[in-house]
Amino acid sequence: MPAIVVSGDGKGDFGGKVTFHVIICAIVAATGGLMFGYDIGISGGVTSMDDFLEKFFPEVFEKKHHAVENNYCKFDNQFLQLFTSSLYLAALVASFVASKICSKYGRKITMQLASVLFLIGVLLNALAPNLALLIVGRIFLGIGIGFANQAAPLFLSEIAPVKYRGALNILFQLNVTIGILAANIINYFVADIHPHGWRIALGTAGIPALILCLGSFLITETPTSLIERQRLTEGMNTLKKIRGIDNVDAEYQELVRASEMARQVKHPFRNLIKRKSRPQLVIAIAMQVFQQFTGINAIMFYAPVLFQTVGFKNDASLMSSAIVGGINVASTVVSVVLVDKLGRKPLLLEACIQMFITQTAIGYILMEHLKTTGDLPKSNAVWVVVLVCLYVMSFAWSWGPLGWLIPSETFPLETRTAGYSFAVSSNMLFTFLIAQAFLSMLCTMRAAVFFFFAAWVFVMCLFVVFLLPETKNIPIDEMMDRVWKKHWFWKRFMDDDDDKRASKVEMAMGH
Ligand code: BGC
Repeated sequence: MPAIVVSGDGKGDFGGKVTFHVIICAIVAATGGLMFGYDIGISGGVTSMDDFLEKFFPEVFEKKHHAVENNYCKFDNQFLQLFTSSLYLAALVASFVASKICSKYGRKITMQLASVLFLIGVLLNALAPNLALLIVGRIFLGIGIGFANQAAPLFLSEIAPVKYRGALNILFQLNVTIGILAANIINYFVADIHPHGWRIALGTAGIPALILCLGSFLITETPTSLIERQRLTEGMNTLKKIRGIDNVDAEYQELVRASEMARQVKHPFRNLIKRKSRPQLVIAIAMQVFQQFTGINAIMFYAPVLFQTVGFKNDASLMSSAIVGGINVASTVVSVVLVDKLGRKPLLLEACIQMFITQTAIGYILMEHLKTTGDLPKSNAVWVVVLVCLYVMSFAWSWGPLGWLIPSETFPLETRTAGYSFAVSSNMLFTFLIAQAFLSMLCTMRAAVFFFFAAWVFVMCLFVVFLLPETKNIPIDEMMDRVWKKHWFWKRFMDDDDDKRASKVEMAMGH
């Protein structure tokens, strides 16, 4: 397993500047986020384009243009959903493989592989003559994403000077939102290019991948990874280079100590199922599952489809999606600024309230005014767009970035990477489920699908109030004493019974 061995022990500031080299490394690695975001944003637009539907999903095309077709069901097609969701299933499996490659061969090569696999996927997609190759292309994209999502955030954490680690971590999410916005804008412009606009939309995904591929030749491997692989002198030299100072001894020693400790843990996954790891594991998985049950990807994947469902024409619906994408980016910046000042819990709770109100209101408007056939009255449709914007805004400064940040900062070193890969794969699994199910849910549950997500938001709110500890400004390796051992509920998992039992067994076995 690669260890998310962060540069430093979290306590100290080892000095060093944000060098030009670190900036280049950060920009290149964060393009992994652009690839991910572009994919999230592009599928909704493409699956609402007539040329694309006519070629690959003639049934949906027919349904969509059928005068008396049920509003809520016109896009309900398992294969159409598979087009979107297959990517996440592939990414789920790939993230486990990626974690092995990451630790054995390094973060840089994993990102290079990610970009190449992704580029193959882009070519297959943009040139696809039939549905089968289209899906194979999506699988390649998914493998690329699985590799990039495991390696890039890790890389960013490891090259960052300690005090900028949080901000650099959110840089990845910021790129995800910029990728989504770029996709929304491209969708808008290519929609009128017939019959191959969708090929341009899918092909443009190659741009961030190319930047990552070429840019990766400019970046170094992280000192952590070099030290982890016993390339000590190289590790030391790289550290000097990225920190821009000669005296990096303290940080270097810390990295060696951390990697020694990580090496002693032969079975990080076994460690993870110990009772003592339960709180962090539950929280990492819950943050990701809840992030997806906010229903965000129902909007991100299917906003254009949703806006067409409420009666917008193609252009208006793609334009509205682009507005939503812009709000997503701007609100993520708000999070970068506030997360270390206000703390994690206030942002999450405020967002729960805002999401609950907006989702309930969207559900109510659709239930009252969007009948099975016919369009939503104009003023109501505008309200739906406004409410979707308010909803996305609150997600973007809370559950979006924090869904990733919190799992990366709660695990102790010995379980950090294994724990984080559970977070990544839970995210992919639930992203897959929502992508695969949302259009069918919209068809069967109709407007109530928004009440379904609102109910989840209510549960999440209780979870944050009672079970999520505040981790703002707490050094990573003091989490155990300052957070878990003090928490009213989680402290009961902090006894050392497991360790005692383990040492008894070892003694009995004569060790
Ligand atoms: C989530 C994605 C989501 C995106 C929206 C990310 O944090 O993991 O599933 O589409 O935020 O900005």
